Amino acid sequence: MAHLTDRRIVLGVSGSISAYKSAEVVRELLATGADVRVIMTASAAEFIGPMTFSALTGNSVAMDQFSGYAGPGEAHIDLAMWAEVLAVVPATANIIGKAANGLADDMLSTTLLACEAPRCFAPAMNFRMMRHPAVLSNLETLKSHGCFIIESAFGPLANGEVGEGRLADTGHIIQAISALADPRRDLEGKRILVSAGPTVEPIDPVRYLTNRSSGKMGYAVASMAAQRGADVTLIAGPNRLESPRNMRIVPIITAEEMCNAVIGHAENQDAVIMAAAVADYRPKSVADQKIKKGADSLVLEMERTTDILTALGDHRPQALVGFAVETNNGLEYAGNKLREKNLDMIVFNDVTAEGAGFDGETNIVTLLHRDGRHQELPLMLKSEVADCILDEIASILRASDTGTS
Ligand code: CTP
Repeated sequence: MAHLTDRRIVLGVSGSISAYKSAEVVRELLATGADVRVIMTASAAEFIGPMTFSALTGNSVAMDQFSGYAGPGEAHIDLAMWAEVLAVVPATANIIGKAANGLADDMLSTTLLACEAPRCFAPAMNFRMMRHPAVLSNLETLKSHGCFIIESAFGPLANGEVGEGRLADTGHIIQAISALADPRRDLEGKRILVSAGPTVEPIDPVRYLTNRSSGKMGYAVASMAAQRGADVTLIAGPNRLESPRNMRIVPIITAEEMCNAVIGHAENQDAVIMAAAVADYRPKSVADQKIKKGADSLVLEMERTTDILTALGDHRPQALVGFAVETNNGLEYAGNKLREKNLDMIVFNDVTAEGAGFDGETNIVTLLHRDGRHQELPLMLKSEVADCILDEIASILRASDTGTS
């Protein structure tokens, strides 16, 4: 779980329609124990009132450099020095452009220019603005200044169009801010392979079989591992998630491709985490032409795919972790899989529980260990679940490094 007890976070809110979502970000940050101060631009105040943020944080909201500040020095310098992380959520094309070019004409832009703490920006705008070369080059400039960009998501935009430019999910924003505030590097030098997402098994040129995995849990594990310093290889089934930039990504489609990719990259890995929902069966043959309808029923003959975790055999890393998505008798099934697949740990996930499952930002899991321990975790963001899984992996790897396992 992200613990930001007493960490000092300044949240800059600029004028996007998604400004209301930053209230949720503030709440989540406060829930992790952080001390949060908010700066709003004048246009942000057209979308959400400062009162919302002052009520949530218990601190007055900084909006104007020239009035309303009772501190000892200048408001923007004091806040810039107070901040341990400055996060701009949402970040409009305007504030991105000003920050990239060193322009400073209001409270947020002057604070950004004066701030030497880690800074991050969560862009939110219409896809037409998002893909404009000026915006893209300003984002690159910010990165070259050491700022972290919390990639926007693809999805419905304010005007009903669908495209790139939607503010990242709150969970991703919290994860990024936590990583900047708490740069834990306990997996430095470790090689970790993560599989994520579904597999897709073709039936004919227009049809396929797949499952409901969104890939979010596996991506969260891969991202947190990379943030903690690991050299990460992500074997990714088809999904709609943004590709993280700080790792090697191997896209695959079928269970067979996933198997080849995992086995092919397993050599020299310290840990393999199979979060992917791999098909257990695939159509025995794939029709060359579209199958035309005929009789009242159609039987599709299926054959077993290779069990990747079991097949890892000779390439077994120091830490081998599986996932068990179940709907009934979960603990028992998960325990059986732990033993049968010779795992160090299995992450049991009852997808029928409220707040758990495929597409959401949260999960409820139990970690089952080789030595019989069970760790029931409460409802958490997937990034927090990922951190707990990685804590266990870090401890398995430490034990094997020191020969205490
Ligand atoms: N897994 C695998 N290879 C497969 C199928 C699953 O390595 N062909 C891995 C999954 O990535 C997961 C674990 O095995 O980490 C458990 O997957 P799950 O589908 O829950 O279990 P199965 O062993 O396939 O058993 P069942 O579908 O009968 O529950």
